[in-house]
Amino acid sequence: MNNFTFQVPTKIIFGRGTQKQVGAEVKKHADKILLHYGGGSIRKSGLYDTVTASLREAGVDYLELGGVQPNPRLALVQEGIQLCRDNNIGFILAVGGGSVIDSAKAIAMGVPYHGDVWDFYDHKADPQEVLPVATVLTIPAAGSECSPSTVITNEKTGRKYGYTTELVRPVFSIMNPELCFTLPGNQVVNGISDMMAHIMERYFTDTEHVDLTDRLCEATLRSIIYHAPKLRENPSDYDAWAEIMWAGTIAHNDLLGTGRTEDWASHGIEHELSAMYDIAHGAGLSVIFPAWQKYVYHHNISRFVQFAVRVWDVDLAFGDPEAIVQEGIRRMERFFHFIGLPIRLSELGIDDTHLEEMAKLAEARGVGNFVKLGWQDVLEIYRLAL
Ligand code: NZQ
Ligand code: ZN
Repeated sequence: MNNFTFQVPTKIIFGRGTQKQVGAEVKKHADKILLHYGGGSIRKSGLYDTVTASLREAGVDYLELGGVQPNPRLALVQEGIQLCRDNNIGFILAVGGGSVIDSAKAIAMGVPYHGDVWDFYDHKADPQEVLPVATVLTIPAAGSECSPSTVITNEKTGRKYGYTTELVRPVFSIMNPELCFTLPGNQVVNGISDMMAHIMERYFTDTEHVDLTDRLCEATLRSIIYHAPKLRENPSDYDAWAEIMWAGTIAHNDLLGTGRTEDWASHGIEHELSAMYDIAHGAGLSVIFPAWQKYVYHHNISRFVQFAVRVWDVDLAFGDPEAIVQEGIRRMERFFHFIGLPIRLSELGIDDTHLEEMAKLAEARGVGNFVKLGWQDVLEIYRLAL
């Protein structure tokens, strides 16, 4: 096991009705805030009214900036930075999913910084201070409610880059599974795919003596696999949503990666897809992850055997490691398809036109730790995904 430091300062407020506590929680930090949100979903569901009433009741002034798009854009971040500066705002409340939270984190980094906030994503600078961010989460998926990361799309250059700093972990996140009942089916499964990917990016490692985190990863994956199909049948199943919502946070708050080298190749390869085609991140991952597994499993076949046996219940009696691994990947693909996720680029309407270009762009950011991949490798993975 590698040495590690693990500190997650985000206060989680979880369960039915908890969004009503938002005003009182914010008031502990600030009197005046930016309320940041996405398209129409929080207005349609009534969450906007609940949150703003709670803020008013607690005596918190707020300015609003809505309109965050999935794959959140830099231009809106820059608008938010200016709005905070002009109005002397020192706290941001994100109400929504990963895109809204990531946009809020970007604004939080940009307000005290004198240069262009994109410098952080371009790895040209690191923030010294950031505004505090809090969240009311409406979709379990990206894990941004507890993560130290933010991913932004620069619409002028077409680049989608992530940036990670402990400074942007939210101060608190309110998570009420009831808020997920309004999610459209495709967003439900995109979220499932993303949280599973966050676990697998950590699971596939060469670090030895990480039995505890292996088993935590396996248990979290198994729990997601068990509960996710229930949401297809009944989108208002509170108990299933509660399991899935908490799993989404556990998948990406870094607990499962403690003491081990993480991979993140599939995310790097996927980010090029969602930058180029503006597809949902989760849908891209359910296509890329199986292809990546097929391409790299020879690197550490026993890890893939463990994955197939412990996560997908493949019968060890096959006695043939290759067959066990391939059956594990097949079961994962079957599960993705069963819940309504794509497993091939063709299902997303993507052909081979830009594969080489994307592979080269991915390589420029560095791809993978489990197996370090050059652009030709990435190209092969895209081809396997066609
Ligand atoms: O904009 P609104 O109207 O709110 O609609 C959203 C959006 O269209 C809708 N939605 C969210 N909650 C809803 C709802 N609709 C009905 N009822 C609700 N309760 O869902 C759509 C998708 O929202 P989005 O925030 O984009 O989804 P997600 O949470 O999956 O975030 C995806 C983004 O996070 C990034 C991804 O790359 C992508 O840009 N990631 C962020 C990470 C991080 N910060 O740690 C890590 C991840 O690996 C990921 O890269
Ligand atoms: Zn992700």
